[in-house]
Amino acid sequence: MCEQIKSKQRVADHGEVFTNEREVKAMCDLVGVEVKKIDSTVLEPACGEGNFLIEILSRKLETVRELYADAKAKYDLNSVIAVSSLYGVDILGDNVTICRQNLFNLWKDAYTQVIGKEPEKKLRETVARILELNIIRGNTLSTKLVDENANDTDEPIVFSEWKFTDRGYVFRIENRYDTMLGEDKPKDGMLLFAMIQETGGKWQRDQQTGHYAPIIHERVHYKDVGSNV
Ligand SMILES: C[S@@+](CC[C@H](N)C(=O)[O-])C[C@H]1O[C@@H](n2cnc3c(N)ncnc32)[C@H](O)[C@@H]1O
Repeated sequence: MCEQIKSKQRVADHGEVFTNEREVKAMCDLVGVEVKKIDSTVLEPACGEGNFLIEILSRKLETVRELYADAKAKYDLNSVIAVSSLYGVDILGDNVTICRQNLFNLWKDAYTQVIGKEPEKKLRETVARILELNIIRGNTLSTKLVDENANDTDEPIVFSEWKFTDRGYVFRIENRYDTMLGEDKPKDGMLLFAMIQETGGKWQRDQQTGHYAPIIHERVHYKDVGSNV
């Protein structure tokens, strides 16, 4: 367990006080079976170094072990699904880097213990890429990505939904966080103007609802996520 406080300045600036393991476990117990389900989606909006996400991933991977320890191909896929179901946002870049690393190491160590050898390169690259996209350096309150000084940029926080289909194929669907919260609507009377302004940009508004439409990428095999997504 890491120290709960890194510096007084960080506590004052960002309220950074990490939760200790006993409380993390007790709070996860309150949620019950939901956090053990392999594909149940979890967002930690102020994830720090990942104390909650680590505990939840460990419970999910325990389920993967119980169900698929003797079926390597299914263990491979389901351990990736477990990772892909977790999302985190933190405003401090070093926390984001450590959080991704903590989750990656947990997944790799569990894999090695259950399967008896380290995960192959393509699988490691898939998990690393999913964590790069799912654990985000951003400001949860403003819904924007932040720069290295924790200041808001103009770029929106975007969550990648991982939709697994048959034979191990997966679609990545980009959803803007402001849209998910319903905070992306142009002001009254500005809808047409906003649509004209945004034509040709990455994000297009749905003409009916005024919300930003999700972006659905071509499906790839999950073991190619690291090289293709
Ligand atoms: C009280 S700590 C909790 C960290 C972690 N959830 C835990 O329990 O160990 C709050 C975290 O939120 C981050 N934070 C503060 N303001 C934020 C914001 N507007 N958006 C995203 N993260 C923020 C801080 O950097 C810090 O890591």
